[in-house]
Amino acid sequence: MKNVAVVGSQWGDEGKGKIVDWLSSEADVVVRFQGGHNAGHTLVIDGVTYKLRLLPSGIVRKNKISIIGNGVVVDPWALLDEIKEIKSKGVEISEENLILSESANLILPFHKEMDEIREDAAGKAKIGTTRRGIGPAYEDKVGRRSIRVMDLISEKNLDHRLETVLMHHNAIRKGLGKELFEKNKLKKELLEIAPQILKFSKPVWKKIDEFKNEGKKILFEGAQGILLDVDHGTYPFVTSSNTVASSAATGSGCGPNTIGYVLGITKAYTTRVGEGPFPTELKNETGEHLGKIGKEFGTVTSRKRRCGWFDGVLVRQTIKVSGINGIALTKLDVLDELDEIKMCVAYELDGKKVDYLPAAVDDQLKVKPIYKSFKGWKSSTKGIKNFEKLPENAKIYIKELEKFIETKVSSISTSPERNDTILIEDPFKI
Ligand code: GDP
Ligand code: IMO
Ligand code: MG
Repeated sequence: MKNVAVVGSQWGDEGKGKIVDWLSSEADVVVRFQGGHNAGHTLVIDGVTYKLRLLPSGIVRKNKISIIGNGVVVDPWALLDEIKEIKSKGVEISEENLILSESANLILPFHKEMDEIREDAAGKAKIGTTRRGIGPAYEDKVGRRSIRVMDLISEKNLDHRLETVLMHHNAIRKGLGKELFEKNKLKKELLEIAPQILKFSKPVWKKIDEFKNEGKKILFEGAQGILLDVDHGTYPFVTSSNTVASSAATGSGCGPNTIGYVLGITKAYTTRVGEGPFPTELKNETGEHLGKIGKEFGTVTSRKRRCGWFDGVLVRQTIKVSGINGIALTKLDVLDELDEIKMCVAYELDGKKVDYLPAAVDDQLKVKPIYKSFKGWKSSTKGIKNFEKLPENAKIYIKELEKFIETKVSSISTSPERNDTILIEDPFKI
């Protein structure tokens, strides 16, 4: 029996939420293991839309356990708001079906403020973050001064932890001429919400071990995408966590051998939100068309997503760094009306052909895509659930894409709706 990890193979927003929700019919447990409420995962079920930020995408199904692992950075107020919002849509959320790691690190208001201060000060060099405090919270985690869920248990401990972390933040704030952050008000506010957070808190590593022993199937849900990984992405234009599949193990407290299959969610074209290199970006009518048909606006910040052709070089690379076994190709229907579809198959850098994205950001900004061209299919693929029913030119595009990335297309998504999905290979049964 295999457990499955789902990760984004591009710059995020590939449709992870839709695929995790669809696959979770087969899983018993769904685990988020990194990122925070910078993620925005959209599910559409019988016309009803759910936008999830911190809650795993299995939450909407009955009799499934949802876990927020230790690798996630949790804004406690954002979590409570999201629980309230999703509950208002008729979804049951309680200690029975939601577990929060006692070791998860908290995002606090001074993290959000630091994110904003830095982005505003950076001017043209800004990252284009979601301004949710993700980076500063992860910095405090590795700086060993963070406040974790378990620290909410004792007032004395919380006071001490806040003292430590604010010493650091207030030194920087003072240097930047900003107002110092006041400890006591925050402590009081945290203690007020502590019981609502602590009721979900458990040792996640232990629960996962129990679930494994009981033979339960576990689905790990990544956030962001491999190109936003702090090690393997387009650094410094990345997020502050490891988004690769191996993070599922560290971010939840199980060994890598717990994961049997890594599914890479892959958009049939490419999008990116925020700043940074994007070799196949289309700043033209075709790019506008992809954005319009694909409704490419950020779930979290409502920013317009940058759009471009499918970059085979990048996806082939992220498949390798993340050990992806198969991909779910999403948003195929967005290409339906195009006369011609292009796929990047190599780059040109300083007159030389290269077959991977160089690590230096200056080179990443310089590479020019070399394209292979395909005929469009000019007919609707929306809602198709059977590979054979796809137009011939769509089949050719998918088969060539599969050959180029050297990895199987194991499912294809043809609309935002849960069941508008073509299953080719079931990751739980490989
Ligand atoms: P995630 O962050 O990877 O979960 O992706 P998002 O939810 O941020 O963005 C993906 C968007 O595309 C959402 O609005 C989905 O409802 C939508 N979507 C997912 N799959 C498909 C598809 O196959 N076709 C179309 N047209 N939309 C899709
Ligand atoms: P999902 O899970 C797309 C981007 C931001 C910015 C960079 C750093 O929905 O795919 P951060 O706030 O993390 O410090 O911002 O990462 N980013 C995302 N882009 N989808 C996401 O999540 C993202 N989460 C962060 O736009 O460029
Ligand atoms: Mg998203």
